[in-house]
Amino acid sequence: MLTTSNSSARWHPNLWPPFTQILKDYPPKRVLSGEGALLKLENGESLIDAISSWWVTLHGHSNQKIAEAIASQAQELEQVIFADFTHPQAERLAERLSKKSGLERLFFSDNGSTAVEVGLKIAYQYWQNRNESRHQIIAFDGAYHGDTFGAMALGERNLFNAPFENMLFPVKRVPWPSTWWGANDIEVRERIAINTLEKLLQTKTAAVILEPLVQGAGGMSMVRPEFLQEVEVRIREAGTLLIADEVLTGFGRCGSLFAYARASIKPDLISLSKGLTGGFLPMGVTMAKEEVFEQFIGDNPKVTFWHGHSFTANPLGCAAANASLDLLESNPKAYENFESRHIPLLKDLANHPKVLKPRVTGTISAFEIKTEGKQGYLNTAGKKLKASCYEQGVFIRPLGNIVYLLPPLCISDSQLKKCYLAIKKGLDELNEEAC
Ligand SMILES: Cc1ncc(COP(=O)(O)O)c(C=O)c1O
Repeated sequence: MLTTSNSSARWHPNLWPPFTQILKDYPPKRVLSGEGALLKLENGESLIDAISSWWVTLHGHSNQKIAEAIASQAQELEQVIFADFTHPQAERLAERLSKKSGLERLFFSDNGSTAVEVGLKIAYQYWQNRNESRHQIIAFDGAYHGDTFGAMALGERNLFNAPFENMLFPVKRVPWPSTWWGANDIEVRERIAINTLEKLLQTKTAAVILEPLVQGAGGMSMVRPEFLQEVEVRIREAGTLLIADEVLTGFGRCGSLFAYARASIKPDLISLSKGLTGGFLPMGVTMAKEEVFEQFIGDNPKVTFWHGHSFTANPLGCAAANASLDLLESNPKAYENFESRHIPLLKDLANHPKVLKPRVTGTISAFEIKTEGKQGYLNTAGKKLKASCYEQGVFIRPLGNIVYLLPPLCISDSQLKKCYLAIKKGLDELNEEAC
């Protein structure tokens, strides 16, 4: 067996990197600064961050307005226990997000996974507080909701969570009828999914969770709003709760402030993170409808939601989030018009013989590389394309053979074009290799 002593010479000896096999992956590049869409490396190179550093960097790196808001908050109040105290930044953020989402209550946590855990725990306890027996949870094929245990259980079972299979609670699955330009069997696949959902909902269900419009880690898999509307109708008929995991899709990523709004559905609970702080600081929030919250009020200690984190409502995170919302409010066109920037470039790329299933929603465009190799996350075509793009000054991180662009809103037209050209050239190279 290979050990770290013979393999990790190029890796920092005290770091354990995420989602990485150090025997196979290249060691990371050192970044010294970021500016707008660019990452500036120690070796003097600049790279376009075409995936917003794991989908968090919303307005661009080192955005001045957010940096200033954090710096000024740090000099006033950096942290306070949020059980006996509250503070103006948290209240302001709660008021704003409540107004924008129409869901009155905001619960703070630390990241996307915890925002999902909180949504799930609230939904599950809600029925117990109402003295109703509902235990079934429904999620979708291909879902990814995070890496903590509850979130893992909700996600599709795969290589990533296989070691923990015995520890994951059962979740019922519905097919996710993804669509792309030219998908011609979409109605049939949507019907199959709805039929499955209907059958499952005959059992009393605590909650249905979904990623509205775009499943992220599951492969930038996009569904039509019509499908989500049908899903919601079935959920309302069954009287269960709908949780929207907007950790990726929120804050303009899908062309509207929240993806559920673009899909014209109305969840009971929403999980948010990533772009919440403009990508500056880790923070999660779960929004809940007032009528959900009301079930947690009462003299009996059992009805209380006994959940919290040390850094709940961290004032620096709240200041960043408020500054990020200011930016979104001052220029909504930045996300509303992004799709129309992608479309002509993706149309051009879609003519490439290696491009399958092109699709776009808001700021996210994606396609699959036509490849003979093993499908899925371990497919190597994406890695080759990534290396080629890197040489051309563009950072992408395909999911196996699925390639996507998810850039910060500030990316310029010429930078966006450069991303597409780099991918095209990389695909040409793959074509020559007949991969
Ligand atoms: C839809 C979705 N939910 C939850 C998560 C987990 O978020 P985090 O990595 O901040 O825990 C992610 C992360 O990519 C995500 O895309």
